[in-house]
Amino acid sequence: AAAALVVRHRMRVSNPCVDIVKELEEKCATPVSKLKQIADAMTVEMHAGLASEGGSKLKMLISYVDNLPTGDEEGVYYALDLGGTNFRVLRVQLGGKSGIESQEFAEVSIPPQLMVGTPEALFDYIAAELAKFVSEESEKFRLLPGRQRELGFTFSFPVLQLSIDSGTLIRWTKGFSIEEMVGKDVVAELTKAMERKGVDMRVSALVNDTVGTLAGGRYDNKDVFIAVILGTGSNAAYVERAQAIPKWHGPHPKSGEMVINMEWGNFRSSHLPLTEYDTTLDAESLNPGEQIFEKMISGMYLGELLRRVLYRMADEAALFGDTVPPKLKTQFIIRTPEMSAMHHDTSADLKVVGNTLKDVLEIPDTPLSTRKIVVEICNIIATRGARLAAAGILGILKKTGRDTVKDGETPTTVIAMDGGLYEHYTEYQHCLENTLNELVGGELAKHIKLIHSNDGSGIGAALLAASHSQYI
Ligand code: GLC
Repeated sequence: AAAALVVRHRMRVSNPCVDIVKELEEKCATPVSKLKQIADAMTVEMHAGLASEGGSKLKMLISYVDNLPTGDEEGVYYALDLGGTNFRVLRVQLGGKSGIESQEFAEVSIPPQLMVGTPEALFDYIAAELAKFVSEESEKFRLLPGRQRELGFTFSFPVLQLSIDSGTLIRWTKGFSIEEMVGKDVVAELTKAMERKGVDMRVSALVNDTVGTLAGGRYDNKDVFIAVILGTGSNAAYVERAQAIPKWHGPHPKSGEMVINMEWGNFRSSHLPLTEYDTTLDAESLNPGEQIFEKMISGMYLGELLRRVLYRMADEAALFGDTVPPKLKTQFIIRTPEMSAMHHDTSADLKVVGNTLKDVLEIPDTPLSTRKIVVEICNIIATRGARLAAAGILGILKKTGRDTVKDGETPTTVIAMDGGLYEHYTEYQHCLENTLNELVGGELAKHIKLIHSNDGSGIGAALLAASHSQYI
């Protein structure tokens, strides 16, 4: 009888919504001890990826950038930034010691069908926008006769570079999937498209957005050693000692250094706090089994994780009433900016949450208690992401020996941060910063700074185009 009583009691107090949230919270927990294990695993994989090509899930790609901008760069350069939901074209006038004299840009969103179509369609679209931008160039930028315009191409996908101005696509990530492009030289494809569209321009530097951000960041601040992108995808680049790259067989760079594009989005470790939502998101994605870290921390996926949790709660715990709202079945229907808006709702009745549920999911009325649960889930998912990103940064600090206070001469490490997620999701950004401080401890925290490098990647690519110009 006593047992029966306990069972009845449990049935009365147990609330399936509360149980699901609690389970999620437990599975997503990221105590400092776990984050340190993840950072250590990251360091181990970094070593393995530098040792040999294919030595690790971390590709640790050689960027062929062995000199970062000095501030002496001069002239007019173009940049093209492709890799998220938008692409940008830029024109930057570099004035040597006087810095950036002018910059103009145009931004266009990429029609989704082009992300999964043919290489020609994608590159023709880009080249056409570039042609339009160049045609609007002011008289004062007119080139000397016989000179060609030069471009830094930021292409934010894993590329095996053969030189600073060429490289083959290893595979697509994020929402892109154009099979025909894999294994092809992306510079050659762009160059052909530019020819088709009548743009006379040479690609002088092909860079990942992390490498561009590192270059742009260094131009502003000489202590920048690491760049992290938290946007649609996520990745990091840093300055490595050439001696510490066994797989590099090229000439020893004069600087003794080489920028490495980690492609940390593909990091994976048994220490990662994976949930059933991560597993199914991955299985149903364009690239199953790949970019597991990215799928837990970056902007393309956070909103989708939220949707998956809400779906389960609607289905198993009637979160939104007796039936599952049909819209909730659509993958990627909740985008991270909407999740962020709900997470930041400070109104007493959580009006933003209510309106978002109405506008995005067509759920007409939600009680305050339901809205509160939604915010709680946003918080759990964003907190896990931000804390894991901080662990990734700690991994780089460890690998480069910048994780300890040294008697009298601890170097300052500035980390250039960019990407829409970092820029716009305030809770995420604050959580990342707090976690990093928590991980490195008070004394070292004074020597580590995160700076927002606004569109550093485009300017960085233009700077690298300048330092690799055919005319110098
Ligand atoms: C993805 C890409 C990587 C890029 C990152 C951020 O992870 O594979 O190259 O740097 O997104 O845009």
